[in-house]
Amino acid sequence: MITQDQLPMLAIASMNDNHLEEMLLVQKLDSVARANDLDEVAKVLEEYVEHSIKHFADEEKLMKEADFPDYLTHKGEHDRHIKELKAFIRYFEKNRDPKAIYTHIEGGLSPWILHHMKTMDTEAADFLKTK
Ligand SMILES: [Fe+2]
Repeated sequence: MITQDQLPMLAIASMNDNHLEEMLLVQKLDSVARANDLDEVAKVLEEYVEHSIKHFADEEKLMKEADFPDYLTHKGEHDRHIKELKAFIRYFEKNRDPKAIYTHIEGGLSPWILHHMKTMDTEAADFLKTK
């Protein structure tokens, strides 16, 4: 499970705000899945994908406006993640298995989020702050 002390503190405040909100949504998703509350899982999954789309669009706008050289690679990783998230939601809708949710959070989602923040987002924020 992602906790606040694991989030890297980036040079761009709006990115940190988005990341904190993302972490809270993932924690909420984990807790409703462990409580076996399937309707709530479906709701939070929807909330999470919508938040991610908006959060990535915010970052992409900043990178594009600043002519960030790795924009396309970074956007490609965002797009790939959204696609994977949507496929995971379809899987949940079909199987309604809450264990798959918290297993995925533990083994796939949380490590990806932290890795992305510590690599691509850190690199982008460092570039953006020089602009
Ligand atoms: Fe990012």
